[in-house]
Amino acid sequence: MSALFEPFTLRSLTVPNRIWMAPMCQYSAVAEGPDEGAPTDWHFQHLAARAVGGTGLILTEATAISPEGRISPHDLGLWNDTQTEAFRRITAFLKSQGSVPGIQLAHAGRKASTDAPWRGGTPLGTDEGGWRPAGPSPLPFDDRHQVPAELTADGIRRVTAEFARAAERALAAGFEVAEVHGAHGYLIGEFLSPHSNHRTDGYGGTFENRTRFALEVVDAIRAVWPDDRPLFFRISATDWLETNGWTPDDTVRLAALLREHGVDLLDVSSGGNASGVRIPLGPGYQVPFAARVRRETGLPVGAVGLITEPDQAEKIVANGEADAVLLGRELLRDPTWAQRAARALGGDVHVPDQYLRAI
Ligand SMILES: Cc1cc2nc3c(=O)[nH]c(=O)nc-3n(C[C@H](O)[C@H](O)[C@H](O)COP(=O)(O)O)c2cc1C
Repeated sequence: MSALFEPFTLRSLTVPNRIWMAPMCQYSAVAEGPDEGAPTDWHFQHLAARAVGGTGLILTEATAISPEGRISPHDLGLWNDTQTEAFRRITAFLKSQGSVPGIQLAHAGRKASTDAPWRGGTPLGTDEGGWRPAGPSPLPFDDRHQVPAELTADGIRRVTAEFARAAERALAAGFEVAEVHGAHGYLIGEFLSPHSNHRTDGYGGTFENRTRFALEVVDAIRAVWPDDRPLFFRISATDWLETNGWTPDDTVRLAALLREHGVDLLDVSSGGNASGVRIPLGPGYQVPFAARVRRETGLPVGAVGLITEPDQAEKIVANGEADAVLLGRELLRDPTWAQRAARALGGDVHVPDQYLRAI
């Protein structure tokens, strides 16, 4: 039996296989009007096609907890009833295919207010349909980005409450997994790293202070997210900086704390918080970070990043380096990757009745 196709149980939820879709921004939500931030037909087909293709768990793109928390004006959001209702159709369809619907809850922090990548991804000023981003410290991501407003203690409390409110809405919308976006240099990741967090209050300085916001967000979500449903946390295991950055050691230390605070799985990515760093890209290049967290803390992990081949994915799970693999771009290329892997490895996978003749 292939390890990739063994079901995986977290709390009361069983995911049918270990092939999961990574969150991927589509910059395709309506940018204004009553449907602002709500999923569109584009999101429906994007998520539905991978469920039809046998993907065990499907995470939405970074979904903003507030308008200011969007990376771009075209991001998904989950701060009102219209958005909540619009997600229901998607979660119901994913479940009808046996896939688990998960949502990545996000605040873009100092990297908010940019245009879609295919329009250059440039930061948008307040006169261009953008807004003033907020961050832990008034430090821009790079020389093109706006200088963020430093969040006050009240602001931190407000954002924490917005994460919890979005989690309540995610539950109402039918999601079975919530993932906190703590990676890629967005707000939570910015607080974690000494590179982007220069605060001198209780949220900056020591490791304990820099991780406080992340743990408060996790606690606030856990208080409203049911005990029988898993909570994930996505982290950048390293800033890839030589000095004064977030490191793999920090990641292991935080993973143990996250586990105590009720996180069920760490989704281990890297980078995104420091501009201009060199990242040694290669097949499975982030897997060792995930494997180390699993080995040293016992917290279940997902591995992501340049995992493209069924044999490669099978080894990662079979060797105990990760409990699941998350695929991004390869699932964009082939929404039926899970079925392809099942044919190659000999695993049981969902195929809809309508498509049985194509097996
Ligand atoms: C189009 C696109 C959008 C992405 N959006 C997000 C996102 O919303 N949240 C996130 O955590 N990562 C995002 N990522 C990163 C992916 O989740 C994934 O970690 C990365 O693409 C590496 O995996 P891959 O080599 O399988 O593509 C995005 C990647 C792509 C290609």
